[in-house]
Amino acid sequence: MTLDAGELERLYAYPPSDRPWVRTNFVSTLDGAATGTDGKSGTLGGPTDTRVFALLRSLADVIVVGAGTARDEGYADFEVDTDLRARLGLSPVPTMVLVSRRLGIPPALVAPGTVVVTTADAAPEAVATLRETVEVIAVGHGEIDWTAVLDTFSERGWHRVLCEGGPSLHGELVRLDLVDELCLTIAPVLACGDAPRIAHGHDAVHHTMTLGHAIEADGGLLTRWVRTRHP
Ligand SMILES: NC(=O)c1ccc[n+]([C@@H]2O[C@H](COP(=O)([O-])OP(=O)(O)OC[C@H]3O[C@@H](n4cnc5c(N)ncnc54)[C@H](OP(=O)(O)O)[C@@H]3O)[C@@H](O)[C@H]2O)c1
Repeated sequence: MTLDAGELERLYAYPPSDRPWVRTNFVSTLDGAATGTDGKSGTLGGPTDTRVFALLRSLADVIVVGAGTARDEGYADFEVDTDLRARLGLSPVPTMVLVSRRLGIPPALVAPGTVVVTTADAAPEAVATLRETVEVIAVGHGEIDWTAVLDTFSERGWHRVLCEGGPSLHGELVRLDLVDELCLTIAPVLACGDAPRIAHGHDAVHHTMTLGHAIEADGGLLTRWVRTRHP
């Protein structure tokens, strides 16, 4: 099925929310691999997944990514649909938020406008050096205090949160039941091997999700799942 830009925008519109809505975006093979044979995810998605990946960035106030993914996937400058953002009343570009404990941030991303999220007990020298260029939000001892992070986002009006992973960061957010929505592209591929899944961590949970949509594209499926929350 070929989807036009308006249809995709409608399918992936953020729901109205008076708090940060955490959307995550992943691609996976049929057997659950989150990376292809090159150890990256980009080779799994087809052209429509690439379009959705870009659209989700254009719809977000903030893009949250683990430092591991930023390093592995070579994150650098990115472009968004500025016309779309202006039409939706969004800032010209989303804020890139990098999550790291050891503060090994790729140099290309240490640039004004970037925000780094880490723990309050992160290495003070590394924090001070980063703060010469970027904002550092340091909350939580041992572990990042995600409630405090989301409170900070909320104070700034950053309600459209997009987390691009990777699996370690996703696992933490899933464990804490902070993921409101998962956009998952299922690639028509069997991968075997020992690739990571899209979320992992020490503690298993059982969080039910409700299907938002499932659309055939490029021989695979574009799916959107919303966390089932009962008032
Ligand atoms: N299939 C997909 O859609 C998809 C999406 C994204 C990534 N991936 C793949 O996943 C692989 C990377 O996996 P990963 O699990 O290593 O990714 P990740 O979660 O992005 O990276 C882990 C690193 O990020 C930081 N981090 C993550 N969660 C943290 C937390 N709660 N607190 C503090 N720091 C945190 C730490 O960085 P420091 O080491 O700096 O402390 C940690 O070592 C790559 O191969 C990538 O291609 C696939």
